[in-house]
Amino acid sequence: MNSSEFLDEVATRLDDYVASRDRNERVNPPQSPATLRKTLDVHLPIEGHGLNPVLDDLDTYIANSVKTHRGEFMNPLWGGLSLPALAGEIIAAATNNSMYTQELSPMGTLIEHTVLRRMCEMVGFPDGFGTFTTGGSNGNMLGMLCAREHAVPASTKKGFDGTNMVVFVSAEAHYSVLMAANVIGVGHLNVVKVACDEGGRMRPDALIDEIQLVKSEGRTPFCVVATAGTTVRGAYDPIRPLSEIAHSEDIWLHVDAAWGGTCMFSNKHRSLMDGVELADSVCWDAHKMMGVALVCSAFLVKQPHLLRTLCDHTNVAHYLFHDDAENIDLGRYSLQCGRRNDALKLWLEWRSRGDAGWASMVDRYMSLADHLQALVTQHEHLEMMSERSWTNVCFRFTHPAASHELNEVNIEIRNRLIKEGVFMVSRSNIGDDVVVRCVISNEGVTESSLARFVETIVKHGSDVIQGLPSAV
Ligand SMILES: Cc1ncc(COP(=O)(O)O)c(C=O)c1O
Repeated sequence: MNSSEFLDEVATRLDDYVASRDRNERVNPPQSPATLRKTLDVHLPIEGHGLNPVLDDLDTYIANSVKTHRGEFMNPLWGGLSLPALAGEIIAAATNNSMYTQELSPMGTLIEHTVLRRMCEMVGFPDGFGTFTTGGSNGNMLGMLCAREHAVPASTKKGFDGTNMVVFVSAEAHYSVLMAANVIGVGHLNVVKVACDEGGRMRPDALIDEIQLVKSEGRTPFCVVATAGTTVRGAYDPIRPLSEIAHSEDIWLHVDAAWGGTCMFSNKHRSLMDGVELADSVCWDAHKMMGVALVCSAFLVKQPHLLRTLCDHTNVAHYLFHDDAENIDLGRYSLQCGRRNDALKLWLEWRSRGDAGWASMVDRYMSLADHLQALVTQHEHLEMMSERSWTNVCFRFTHPAASHELNEVNIEIRNRLIKEGVFMVSRSNIGDDVVVRCVISNEGVTESSLARFVETIVKHGSDVIQGLPSAV
């Protein structure tokens, strides 16, 4: 088989995979991961198998993947499949330009500059810049690292004693803040979880109290991480008051907009992030609601010199970096050396849709979330478990025959969903309650798929109730 026959075969598989989003197939493989571990042959051979078996391996891989492009996939904060971004992903891999210098990625560098500057403009950082990262987790880490450099200038060079440095996050913030605290040398125990209001938003008055408490203990507050779109409830912390509090104490404000940042396209919903221009740094995942294939995420900072300082590697990399492109080479703003061109797929998708296309996508997702909320509220055996700000719809099945066993009932409903393979949604907790967390972040979702989803939950819920000892 020559290379063009091989690529034709690969293209046929791609075409078939994309077409399968409209076929009525399972979302997840029928066998459990444990069974797949026993049955799939994934060993690495001593002697290579050549090109032909690669195609068989691809078939097996596709058959045993979760079909994240199906509209019924509503499990994490992303889903669907966009063709311009897919094309960008394929061509980025084929061209394999690395993003450290413009010499080695000429058009890629131009594209990444353009996309980052546009995202900064949208946030309200007119002189800002940033870098592409592997995701919101690393974006949060970079935000906290900038905060560290701001609080302890030259800590990048001299090192740092983080044992007394404290970062504040909402009690509902993403776990990546803990990991970042570890990586930057602060430690999990120096992450203070600030109380939220009933909607899951960080309470400014509680932040003031926590900062004062930390100061009275002789510790140093250095960073507040506000979340714009929390993972479970989709809550938006009130950035404007949080920024006033943080800045009155010279504390860095980082906004984790990994999930909720895309609201900035919509005139109707942009106000969810009111005051974001007051932040010092922001991370924003294009691989979540914007539907661009993993990974694609931006870290943006108001004062780019800080990012540059903490990514400074002096002149040791003389084999890569030369003075003539000093202010253009993106390797001076990244902690990575070799780096994929993740901006290409986002740029292609953005050129294809325009700002207006993203805006109508956000508005459509929000109205689908309204629709799901209405279906839940109208049903006697379903109840919303949180107020809604974004496209996260947190609800549960409820029944008088199981009022003390609702957690077990909802866990079992989710287990049955996974076995059945028609819909995938997340099971989460709000306080002590188990909830079904459905997010609208996939262009395949429609009002009718949501109606089928609700019917499916109710059917499983009723079956579970029938099987309870108390129902016999
Ligand atoms: C609010 C929030 N921040 C950060 C992250 C981490 O993002 P990533 O998976 O891109 O690292 C997530 C992931 O779900 C998230 O929900």
